[in-house]
Amino acid sequence: MDALLDSPPWTSLFPVHPATTDAQWWRTAVVYQVYPRSFADSDGDGVGDLPGITARLDHLAALGVDAVWLSPFYTSPQVDAGYDVADHRDVDPVFGTLADFDAMLARAHALGLRVIVDVVPNHTSDEHAWFRRALAAPAGSAERARYVFRDGRGAQGAEPPNNWRSIFGGPAWTRVAEPDGTQGQWYLHLFDARQPDLDWTNPEVRGEFEEVLRFWLDRGVDGFRVDVAHGLVKADGLPDWDGTTAMVEGGADGTTGPMFDQEGVHEIYRSWRAVLDAYPGDRVLVAEAWLDSLSRTARYVRPGEMHQAFNFAYLTTPWDADRNRQVVVDSLAASDAVGAPTTWVLSNHDVVRHTSRLGLADAGSLPKGIRALDEQPDAELGLRRARAATLQMLALPGVAYLYQGEELGLPEDTAMPDEARQDPAWFRSGGLEAGRDGCRVPLPWSADGPAHGFSPTGRSWLPQPPSFARHALDVQRGVPGSTYELYRRALALRRHLQLASGSLDLVELAGVGTSDAVALRNRDVLVVTVHRGAPVLLPAGCDLLIASDDVARDEAGSLVLEPGTTAWVLPPRAARLPHARTTG
Ligand code: NOJ
Repeated sequence: MDALLDSPPWTSLFPVHPATTDAQWWRTAVVYQVYPRSFADSDGDGVGDLPGITARLDHLAALGVDAVWLSPFYTSPQVDAGYDVADHRDVDPVFGTLADFDAMLARAHALGLRVIVDVVPNHTSDEHAWFRRALAAPAGSAERARYVFRDGRGAQGAEPPNNWRSIFGGPAWTRVAEPDGTQGQWYLHLFDARQPDLDWTNPEVRGEFEEVLRFWLDRGVDGFRVDVAHGLVKADGLPDWDGTTAMVEGGADGTTGPMFDQEGVHEIYRSWRAVLDAYPGDRVLVAEAWLDSLSRTARYVRPGEMHQAFNFAYLTTPWDADRNRQVVVDSLAASDAVGAPTTWVLSNHDVVRHTSRLGLADAGSLPKGIRALDEQPDAELGLRRARAATLQMLALPGVAYLYQGEELGLPEDTAMPDEARQDPAWFRSGGLEAGRDGCRVPLPWSADGPAHGFSPTGRSWLPQPPSFARHALDVQRGVPGSTYELYRRALALRRHLQLASGSLDLVELAGVGTSDAVALRNRDVLVVTVHRGAPVLLPAGCDLLIASDDVARDEAGSLVLEPGTTAWVLPPRAARLPHARTTG
């Protein structure tokens, strides 16, 4: 055997994470986020619905995901696209009925897909029966004690109780007219004025949400994604806060403020965990908590608390090899320290799609939406890098979250007319933030046909840009090199190679600058992402398993990985070492 052909392409290996033999599904799953408004519309009103989802679940099974997370479909005036819940135990008519939910769940389970639903405990809609009663009741009443009502400051209480700002812009307090018509107390809303915050020091609130969990567990859901999981408990006395209050970055100055990440939230999740543990099967809690550090995030997934927390540190990492490597190492260290799986995510319904973020001059920066008059992403470069980023993500041990449409390489709609916008962040920021509508545009299932197959009438609650025809599922399915086929094959290989339960080593490649590329090894698979610089050459003895874009071989037979590419490679046989380090 040619010694050169057989030698490993790396100069050193640094162990980061041991393989695991733990069989629980939620440690290794790929979870696909369905945003019900924009997935598939069965009745033609232009808004997606539960029967539409049921009819398209085959797509998700064929794609190869393990679970589906549904954003809210509960009764709601839809001020914040359903994150303003008026009745936690019913389905909004725009999405269907409880029977439609049951049918969707049964179909998903028949296809082997788990189903996670959203629970929104930080606030309700102003149309929730509790809030209506609170408005009709006097200051100091039991009805008001379910929310955060306070007297104002200053003369006649005309100033808000503190200086907190809403995450969507404007003050976090709104003053109410008392039943007798006089100006009265103020209520807190970290988000829109029509999303009043609940008071989680009130045992009635705690009891109610445990019942809400049981309601959906009894129907058979496999778990909950917990909205604003870090926000339920506020610091005593509601002290003023001069830092920023943003959902996406956490606090800009390294702390998250008195409205977030208070110690008291953990006790809530310990009791929720006990509720879930009383049910058969592995039901899970997933924390949506935008925090400054991975170690703070890991506290939500300590033994006896939640099962997973979104890894927003990974999502917010710009296109930079050193930072990318660091966040992978830090993420695994933080979750390993508490025995939880690491999660990975690149896109969701709150951020600019990674296809577009990665095509900005400041690649991977996090604008709050993109308007036509803003810098426009380089679509080709963004898609290329997005495919590379995804292929890295799907090779990492732990749980991966996909956002609907990313399997089609959908870009953000950066040319949406302002008149079409619906995100409360757009309105409350006075147009300073474009908001999140650009990542929420209904999916194109077919190049032709009404609303690209989204709706039988062609109606669509947000307009679809012309570029969506190119991205439609029916023009990608079965087409080698398409983004859809890349995702499908990567998911199949991830499962076959057991990468989700694999080990991870950092690798140094001979002659490759660490600031140009990230090289990792999961089990036997070498995963190389080239961020910038010269092409990376991998020796001829390496077998290419999959690459995010075309990879050529040079005259010597070496694989040539251009910048903006990730490849999964089997190194020469002699370099495929036994992996002894495994934890159970
Ligand atoms: C986080 C959700 O993901 C977002 O869409 C929503 O606006 C806020 N929480 C408020 O519920």
